[in-house]
Amino acid sequence: MTARRALISGITGQDGSYLAELLLARGYEVHGIVRRVALHDPENRLSRLLPIRDCLHLHPGSLESYASLHQVLAKVQPHECYHLAAQSFVSYSFDDEFSTLNTNINGTHYLLAAIKNLVPECRFYFSGSSEMFGKVEQVPQNEDTPFHHRSSYGISKVAGFHLTRNYREAYGLYACSGILFNHESPRRGHEFVSRKITSGVARILAGKADRLCLGNLDALRDWGHAREYVEAMWLMLQQPQPEDYVVATGETYSVRDFAQLSFALAGLDYRDFVVTDPELYRPAEVNVLTGDATKAIEKLGWTPKTGFSALVREMLEADCDSVGIDLSLSVPHSGQISHPWQLPLAGQLTGVDGVLQQPGF
Ligand code: GDD
Repeated sequence: MTARRALISGITGQDGSYLAELLLARGYEVHGIVRRVALHDPENRLSRLLPIRDCLHLHPGSLESYASLHQVLAKVQPHECYHLAAQSFVSYSFDDEFSTLNTNINGTHYLLAAIKNLVPECRFYFSGSSEMFGKVEQVPQNEDTPFHHRSSYGISKVAGFHLTRNYREAYGLYACSGILFNHESPRRGHEFVSRKITSGVARILAGKADRLCLGNLDALRDWGHAREYVEAMWLMLQQPQPEDYVVATGETYSVRDFAQLSFALAGLDYRDFVVTDPELYRPAEVNVLTGDATKAIEKLGWTPKTGFSALVREMLEADCDSVGIDLSLSVPHSGQISHPWQLPLAGQLTGVDGVLQQPGF
């Protein structure tokens, strides 16, 4: 039997690299769309893929060019297409709305159109985002929660979500969106707050920095592990019918909690090192996100496994390793989602309503 072919846009990123590993492990022939320049600079631009590089088929292409995407689709003829590529940094979308909207909306549209024209049987996954809920109109957020985006990034994701639904309804494509809440890992880009914090702590421990500048410490996010979230993507494309799903842990912690825990795990008090910089605040903030993944749990059989404390710890350990520090962590942790607040913290981890969160499921 010939292997199923999967095509991933954004294969070089955090999610793309985990998804590529998952698909290879499941026997897929894995293809990826990458910028031409990446093929000439693999050490830097393909760094997350280096251990599996020889097992992948990489094709040059750009979200800004319908012709290039059409060419890749025509050549690969995938059975499944995972569209993860995007300008994904919310802050940047305030600096350049035009490129965020153009790249993200057109890129999704081009891929959908090319699939419809060339491989209509191909199953399509779109990476939606909890940023679509923005100024949330209900807590927790599920598939029925109205969207109230707060950035051009959020607008681009809402547009991609509606494009995906429209191609499903109008042209009969198996096309669905995952509405993924924040998901992190040691492979997270340094521009995102989680990695900025854990790498910042590692640099402070290594004597390479003496403070960490952050923006809004009170923003609340539902943080899960990226490796588990790509499994939900795959499950979405294995169902009898294409549907949209929220993927989240159901637990919410603040940026302050993240910083406090990271520093505490390193034996430090975040208040001695964290400086807030008003420049890092966003013109329109998403204050609180808490996902309700009941549908994914019940229909896909997916469950989040890594709790907040285990996630922070894994990221911190990896960043410490990379600066040559062996963080001998003695604090107990369950590794499960059930009791993440058991860690000895200077303060309390607080949830949306100011009380410790119970597991959502
Ligand atoms: N990046 C960053 N840097 N964020 C900061 C900082 C800082 O120095 N200080 C505070 N924050 C706050 C932001 O204001 C935001 O409220 C929160 O930390 C999280 O910011 P990010 O880590 O940049 O992620 P995000 O929530 O904006 O978006 C991420 O998650 C979305 C899913 O909800 C990205 O991965 C998006 O692409 C994704 O769609």
